[in-house]
Amino acid sequence: MRTQFLCNQCGSVHAKWLGKCPDCGTWDALEAFTPPAADARAEAAGMGDVLRGAEAVAIGEIDETHTPRMATGIAEFDRVLGGGIVPGSVVLVGGEPGIGKSTLLLQVAHAMSVRENGRAAAKILYVTSEESARQTALRARRLGVKSNDLLVLAETNVERITHQIGKLKPAVAIVDSIQMIYKPQIPAAPGSVTQLRDCCMDLVYLAKAGGTAVVLVGHVTKAGTLAGPKVIEHIVDTVAYFEGDRFHAHRIVRCAKNRFGGTHEVGLFEMTGTGLAELTQPGKIFLEQYGPGGPPSGSVITAAMQGSRVLLVEVQALTAPSVIGAAKRKTSGVSSDRVAMILAVLEKRAELRLAADDVFVNVAGGIKTPEPAVDLAIALAIASAHLNRPLAAGTLAVGELGLGGEIRSVPQLELRLREAGRLGITQAIVPAMGDNAPGLKGMAVHGVRRLSQAMANL
Ligand code: TYD
Ligand code: MG
Repeated sequence: MRTQFLCNQCGSVHAKWLGKCPDCGTWDALEAFTPPAADARAEAAGMGDVLRGAEAVAIGEIDETHTPRMATGIAEFDRVLGGGIVPGSVVLVGGEPGIGKSTLLLQVAHAMSVRENGRAAAKILYVTSEESARQTALRARRLGVKSNDLLVLAETNVERITHQIGKLKPAVAIVDSIQMIYKPQIPAAPGSVTQLRDCCMDLVYLAKAGGTAVVLVGHVTKAGTLAGPKVIEHIVDTVAYFEGDRFHAHRIVRCAKNRFGGTHEVGLFEMTGTGLAELTQPGKIFLEQYGPGGPPSGSVITAAMQGSRVLLVEVQALTAPSVIGAAKRKTSGVSSDRVAMILAVLEKRAELRLAADDVFVNVAGGIKTPEPAVDLAIALAIASAHLNRPLAAGTLAVGELGLGGEIRSVPQLELRLREAGRLGITQAIVPAMGDNAPGLKGMAVHGVRRLSQAMANL
């Protein structure tokens, strides 16, 4: 096979060496590599016969009768994966360093390797490429992990790892982390695009051929994700990312891709002294508790859908006069483009003069709310901060904001209101719905058609 050149920044492949990558424009980024023939690769992973023997069949004749899943025993993680780990599949768990990836996977490994609630114990191999076996054992002790079916291997050479997996045939092999393992034939450093892709490919072939499910840990860095888990996202079956930051106790695991189920679910955890605790009844954990004076201006509660669950979250806004001509707009937890649009609507349709103000919008608790249904809460929070007029305590706002200042309906409004009512919300500002407005005991529901109507509640 001829030598080719791979860009270590964008991953594009070129026939000849160039000083500057034609795809991403990075200088001095092309590395020479010789792609192994497809068969050699399959052979190396023990899959040669499988590939040669494959025959095309009519789609109707393929037996699709339910994909079996192994429940991990950690319900919040199972929820993210769509019910559990599919045998022979490859799952990637990404997140910033220190967020809790190793902790979660060690807990998963433990839960799967002990016999519990009638579930048989599974053999789990935990490959630690970053920490020594002793460090992992220390962490395991802290988490109360102990099981004879949980094996730990401290190894960084992918060939020795695949050999061990082939020999031990575990139900699940966890590789923590993919960035630290390497293939000796490839001259590039561990963590480079070439190494990442090749090591990942070997593990994927092994999973498909041997039926061992593989869970890969990948670090995502704040400074972009070059050579990070993004370059292997398309090779694996399921991708889940840790969200939030390590300065908050709450951890959110969100599914970004799933070949065996939906991607809309999130898992909620709290980091404690003894590992990650599941938050099955999240309720109001993201709400600030205010005293008898009620919330300050600029604070609005909304009901955000996170997967099939409703979470009450608090949108906070602050406006302050800025240096002339250099108004800052900073957001966290909501899209800054969305906030820019909402600011324009507030200027044009509600006649709020915000052009000379710095505007800060934050979702309390480090959670992300990408839904347009939080628009109304953002708009009201900004207006409330600007006018210094708070909403009454126990008030919730949901609704999508249109460019004309109209309030649009949102999916699953009734579910949101029911959950909010259960958690003590007494007033809701929602899109007007005509006759089929949900009647709720103990909650005053105000249907609004326009932003100006909603702002009358301030
Ligand atoms: P870790 O799982 O090592 O993160 P990652 O693998 O994503 O880099 O977790 C790191 C943090 O979690 C570390 O700062 C310590 C904290 N932690 C706890 O608070 N409680 C625990 O029981 C454990 C094991 C870790
Ligand atoms: Mg780790």
